[in-house]
Formats: sequence, structure tokens, C-alpha cells
Amino acid sequence: MANTASQIRSSSNRFHLSAFTASSGRNNYSAKAENFVSYIAMIAFPEKFLKILKSAQKVAVLTGAGISAESGVPTFRGTDGLWAKFRPEELATVEAFLSNPKLVWEWYLHRRDLMSGVSPNPGHYALAELESHYPDFTLITQNIDGLHHQAGSKNLFEVHGNISKNKCFECGEPFTGEINLESEGLPKCHCGGRIRPDVVWFGEMLPEKALEESFEASGRAELFLSVGTSGIVYPAAAMPLTARRKGAYLVEINVEPTSLTEYADWFAQGKSGEILPEIVKRLKE
Ligand code: OAD
Repeated sequence: MANTASQIRSSSNRFHLSAFTASSGRNNYSAKAENFVSYIAMIAFPEKFLKILKSAQKVAVLTGAGISAESGVPTFRGTDGLWAKFRPEELATVEAFLSNPKLVWEWYLHRRDLMSGVSPNPGHYALAELESHYPDFTLITQNIDGLHHQAGSKNLFEVHGNISKNKCFECGEPFTGEINLESEGLPKCHCGGRIRPDVVWFGEMLPEKALEESFEASGRAELFLSVGTSGIVYPAAAMPLTARRKGAYLVEINVEPTSLTEYADWFAQGKSGEILPEIVKRLKE
């Protein structure tokens, strides 16, 4: 079913309540919080993991939408995911922007608005804290919500861009002006080019330097954590496998198994907002 601008507008409320409410109880992925209390108490940290956690010097982490789910940001896949309600080819491609820039802008302004009201959760803070324990720590995120930055992560690559930023479609220059579709219409650059959100759309190249450094960090990591990602969007999905192939101990943290699970040395099943703080606790013990 195709989505129109008015559908995006009219679905906003439903969207807000079901997808952007972390504690709505509608999240398929989440077990009941009270069950998790006992799950965490029972969590079996493999000896080898604890040894590497404490001895490693080089650590890399890849995150996906799942890490922000507990902040109230919807994931993409699954029955409550964005791509179950909206068609990516009509909203997140260059072709979509060229054929209907207003619709694409409405979609991103809507998401920008919702994301501006969310905060980092304990998973984001745990990763920021983890960074301070290692001389070589790289955080690679597919998320555009800026929550890792807000939580204090420093060596961070936002390989799919950042929804709070804009750039020119033609010359690529950042655009910091206000965007108000109603009063100003579609924003234009001083070069005459159209302004677009600074995010990576399907079919587009990822930022070259960030991608190169992310793969380098994956390749040299002794410990690699893949957190809250379905692991099906490339090239990011290749990073955990690169790390594993080059000898890293690979941990996957996810509420459900993915295509990566069979390659993980340890599949830590559960919410990242609960497991990551436990990992930091173990590191400090
Ligand atoms: P997905 O929606 O594909 O996957 C989210 C993953 O997070 C799933 O595997 C869930 O099981 C898991 N998950 C959900 N809640 C969790 C929690 N509390 N703790 C741990 N895991 C949890 O999102 P991504 O893998 O990030 O790209 O998707 C990759 C890319 O596809 C996105 O960056 C986006 C999308 O289309 C673009 O827009 C270019």
C-alpha cells in the first residue's frame, strides 16, 4: 500500500502512541520487565568473554535500531517496525526525493520531531562508559538519532548519517537554516541545489572515511559487540563478520536470534539496555 503525505500526517498519532512509546507494552521484542530482573540475575557470562573483556585493548561495537528501542525510537523490521507501515522506496531513496521531495521532507521532519523528544537509555550510557576503559574503542552506529553522541560516546561513526543535520543535494554543503515547509516551501542552498536530510538512503554510498575507519576498527578489534541490529543491511552487516574473521571474539546482543547468531562466540539474548550495563559492571569487578 502506498503512503501519501496525508497518510503520514494522519498516522502521526497512531504512530506516536504505538511506535514511539517505549513502555507501551506493544513491543513484540520485549519480554515483561519483571521477567528480565530474574533473567539478568541468571545471565551466564562465558569465562572466555570475561577474560577478553578485561584483557582486550581494542574493542569495536556496531549498534542498530534495537539499542534505541528502549528510548522509544521504533525499529525498522518486525511487526511494529517502520518498514511494516511505510514503504522505504517511497521515502528513503534518491528517486523518492526527486519525485516527491515534499513527502520525503514531511516524513523526515516528522521523525526528527519525534526523535528530538527522546533520551539515551542505559545501553547508550553503558557504551559511553565502556569507551573510557579501552585505549582503542570504536563505536559504529547505523542509527541516525544522535543518542550515542548525547550519551557521551566520543569515537563514534554515524555511518547512516544524522537526522538532525541537512545538506545540499547538489554540492553537499551543510545547511543550518530553518526548515519550514508551510511558510518557506522546500529549502534551497545558496548554489541553487535542493536541501535534503543528511542521512544515507537506500542505494547510496556511505560516508567514505567513516566507512573505511569503521572497517579498520572492526578488523583490528579483539572484542566486537553487535548490538540491536538485524544484520541484514550492508555494508554495516559485514563489520561483525570482518571482525570475527580477523580473530575477534564476537558477541551479539539482541532480543532474538538473527542471521549473525550462528557466527557469534556468545549470543547474549535480551535487552541491550539491561545487558550492556551488566557488562560494564563485570568489567569493573
Ligand atoms: P532493524 O529494525 O532491522 O533491527 C533491529 C534489531 O534490534 C532486531 O534484530 C531486534 O530483534 C533488535 N532489538 C529490538 N529491541 C531490542 C532491545 N531492546 N535490545 C536489543 N535488541 C533489540 O534495525 P537495524 O538493524 O538498525 O537504514 O536496521 C539497519 C538499517 O535498516 C537501518 O539503519 C535503516 C534500515 O532501513 C537506512 O535507513 C539506510
